[in-house]
Amino acid sequence: MVPYAEYTAHKRVWWKEATFYQIYPASFKDSNGDGWGDIPGVLSKIPYIASLGVDAVWLSPMFDSPQIDMGYDISNYEAVYPPYGTVADVENLIEACHKNDMKFILDLVVNHTSDQHDWFKESRSSKNNPKRDWYFWKPARYDDHGNRMPPTNWRSYFAGGTWTWDEHTEEYYLHLYDETQPDLNWENDDCRRAIYSSAMQFWLDRGIDGFRVDTVNKYSKVVQFPDAPVTDPTSDVQPAAQFWCNGPRIHEFIKEMHTEVLSKYRTYDGQPVVTVGELSLTPEPQGVLNYVSAAAKELNMIFQFDITHLGQGPPGCGSKYDFTDWKLPEMKRIVEKWQTFIDGTDGWTTVFNENHDNGRSISRFGNDRPEWREKSAMMLALCFAAQTGTWFLYQGQEIGMVNAPMEWSIEEYKDVESKNYWREAVAVSEEGADPTRKERIAQGLQLMARDHSRLPFQWNTDSNGGFSSGKPWMRAHDLYTEINAETQEKDGGSVLSFYKRMLRLRKEHSDVFIYGTFELLDAENVSTFVYRKNFQDKTALVAANFTTSPQPLPPTDGMELLVSSYSKTTPSTLQPFEGRIYIDY
Ligand code: GLC
Ligand code: CA
Repeated sequence: MVPYAEYTAHKRVWWKEATFYQIYPASFKDSNGDGWGDIPGVLSKIPYIASLGVDAVWLSPMFDSPQIDMGYDISNYEAVYPPYGTVADVENLIEACHKNDMKFILDLVVNHTSDQHDWFKESRSSKNNPKRDWYFWKPARYDDHGNRMPPTNWRSYFAGGTWTWDEHTEEYYLHLYDETQPDLNWENDDCRRAIYSSAMQFWLDRGIDGFRVDTVNKYSKVVQFPDAPVTDPTSDVQPAAQFWCNGPRIHEFIKEMHTEVLSKYRTYDGQPVVTVGELSLTPEPQGVLNYVSAAAKELNMIFQFDITHLGQGPPGCGSKYDFTDWKLPEMKRIVEKWQTFIDGTDGWTTVFNENHDNGRSISRFGNDRPEWREKSAMMLALCFAAQTGTWFLYQGQEIGMVNAPMEWSIEEYKDVESKNYWREAVAVSEEGADPTRKERIAQGLQLMARDHSRLPFQWNTDSNGGFSSGKPWMRAHDLYTEINAETQEKDGGSVLSFYKRMLRLRKEHSDVFIYGTFELLDAENVSTFVYRKNFQDKTALVAANFTTSPQPLPPTDGMELLVSSYSKTTPSTLQPFEGRIYIDY
């Protein structure tokens, strides 16, 4: 670790100051009426994306895939899923972003492939195939009655176990996610070299500016494959993250990826390429710093998920969708923890509250009732825009898209995780092991399912919100006539206009907003979130009301009002869901 004195202020780099905009290709814009978003659709919306004032685009997987996990199950890294377009289309998109002064990054999904990837097909073909060892294959165990049992009792991410029996060679293979997503064996040198070449260099050579690195801390497993202790007696599979997360060789692998591949590439304008890793199940700041310390030469930054876990059961086990109510001080402590963990270090942090794996932030952290949804959208925009770190926005967040309506049946949910948790809940309830689980999980999915963020983008008041002239792969939100980009573009008071304003202000005051130190005030207050940002002599005070009633404004000490999410402010009161920033130069 670099000593404190050298990093009292964080070094300025493009990716710290950039705001990234995440695009989910299936749901952004369909150009040909087949109901699926596509790359030409994204290309047609470049002017819109550029108009937001963001600096970089992150495109979720558009690689060839059977789409069991919406493209996070890749069958060929070097090809594009045909309904999305071609490699040439992606090259055009890269170029269009660059012409508009935006960087462009792709998802790097290399913990696993699809079972339809040629590598896995070869690996599966025989025990002595040269690629056998590119995945994890293990013989069966047998219980006292001679029943076949998997090599370990581990629970997978999407419910169920982590091993699937393959009749052909009579062994099990490992998958932390769905059974169609076998885990690659990073212990094998040839496998790692193939990953670097096919998944990374192929696209870096085509001009991308970096990667969002999927499931970045799961490549190294405890290869003795021990059983996990039984913590859920209702199940034959057990949480086992200690054996497949932050494993013994993980830092070695990530350093190698950096040294051998990433360090050799530059962005289109000659700067280092960027990495942002998806780092789940890592609650301790030191654990995170080990990945993002500049001296470590591993990742530039990571997503830490405490904020999206608010209200969820403990991560890594079966209770993810078992919702428990949370109070504002919990959110404040989480923000404080991940804002301050970089103080005095050479690490960096990220700011986000939405992505393709979570419910919409208004529905989760604000209030999506008609009278409050815009107010709470703007308050959240303000409250997060002033935080230190790199800001990531998710498509539709900028127009205040909300969760799918409560009335929608579970049939409208398409996500493999939602479906598996639902199936498990129904079974456990019906067996009587946990009779109320079904209702609890139904409620949890209504609030937190990954499906909510995957609804088609709402462009205008045409059918399907202008997303597609055909039948969308996922139902469009019933509210598209009320919440859509075109209407908001014409309205200076819209959520969209407010996001654009916050993006401008964040740039104008990048010193205090992006690089400043964070100080939480009034930590126990359950209604307002108040914090101070300091950068040298400059101070900003951020005050946000998370309730539907007026709240007292904290002392502003003669500072100047920079922005309010309301057009008219009142002297000493924050109106419902109002956010304000005061500044002192
Ligand atoms: C990441 C992705 C998620 C996917 C999983 C498996 O968590 O964000 O969407 O299901 O990895 O690849
Ligand atoms: Ca299409």
